[in-house]
Amino acid sequence: MNKIRLEIVKLLHQNPDSFVSGQELSDKLGVSRTTISNYIKDLRHKGYKIKSKTNKGYKLLKSPDMIIPEEILWKLSTEKIGKNIKFYNEIDSTNEKAKEIAGKVPGGTVILTEKQKKGKGRRGREWYSPAGSGLWFSIILYPDFQPDKAPMLTVLAALSVEESLDDMNIATDIKWPNDIILNNKKIAGILSELNAEIDQINYAVVGIGINVNQDSFPQNLKDIASSLKIETGKNIDRVNLLNNIFYSFERYYKMLLSDKEEELLKIWKNKLKCLNKRVVIDSNGKIYRGKAVDVSLKGELVIKDEKGKEHSFWTGDTSLKEWCEEGEKI
Ligand code: BTN
Repeated sequence: MNKIRLEIVKLLHQNPDSFVSGQELSDKLGVSRTTISNYIKDLRHKGYKIKSKTNKGYKLLKSPDMIIPEEILWKLSTEKIGKNIKFYNEIDSTNEKAKEIAGKVPGGTVILTEKQKKGKGRRGREWYSPAGSGLWFSIILYPDFQPDKAPMLTVLAALSVEESLDDMNIATDIKWPNDIILNNKKIAGILSELNAEIDQINYAVVGIGINVNQDSFPQNLKDIASSLKIETGKNIDRVNLLNNIFYSFERYYKMLLSDKEEELLKIWKNKLKCLNKRVVIDSNGKIYRGKAVDVSLKGELVIKDEKGKEHSFWTGDTSLKEWCEEGEKI
């Protein structure tokens, strides 16, 4: 990340209604006016619309509709999450890249891309990640808790996505374990991966995919997946959303680091759509029907079947196929 370019972006953003003079930029950043002018050219090249006026300086008219790091970083208020962003125009999978560089970068580093060529979903599925319209990113973490707490990372990721959308007046549901649903269609998913010894985590990668501004979906997905834009009818500011998620994620992550997982689980349970509803579970191809009665401290979904027998399911080999209100037919 180039610090001077970032500072220029910040100063232009902080003065939306006035020109910032080349001299002021040059004094503040300790570089020549020619250097400033070259950075301005570079920013224009990246898609920034910057007006320049002789004797007055520069004014930002419009930022590019891209998730470039400068746009995120100039107003980021976290301590660690997203402070170091590795951005790619396109990449196979941000989770794969994160695993490649984990251990060599600080905790909280984010791999972010405009397009994934081989986006990965849960249970070996592919994750559709077209260019320019979604948020596809992975957060690298080095938590110092025991590996059995790691599933909570996925829980807090789901909470932070749900909360950030709620702040933008978009009310979503969390479908167990961690799909984000809007109007019965999936708009975001989370894939966490872990590298650990029996009693210590080497690194964790939390991959988050959000369908933001897509106008359409391929035939095979359009009945189950949708985007925020399709469902709300509005173009969503991806940079704002990402900033909110980083902020929220960090807050929940700190709770987890300070052993507040029971509190986190309570918040999560309150947001889970399927609790106290009738559900159909597919566990390794075997179908179970019953009522979802609880979520255990480990995040397992507990269902009671027609005979009153309880079954617990963990996400690895299980999917929640359907749920409905008591009395409705599945
Ligand atoms: C799911 O199946 O619900 C999980 C989808 C996770 C997709 C995200 S997109 C960013 C990150 N990189 C990947 O390859 N996958 C995750």
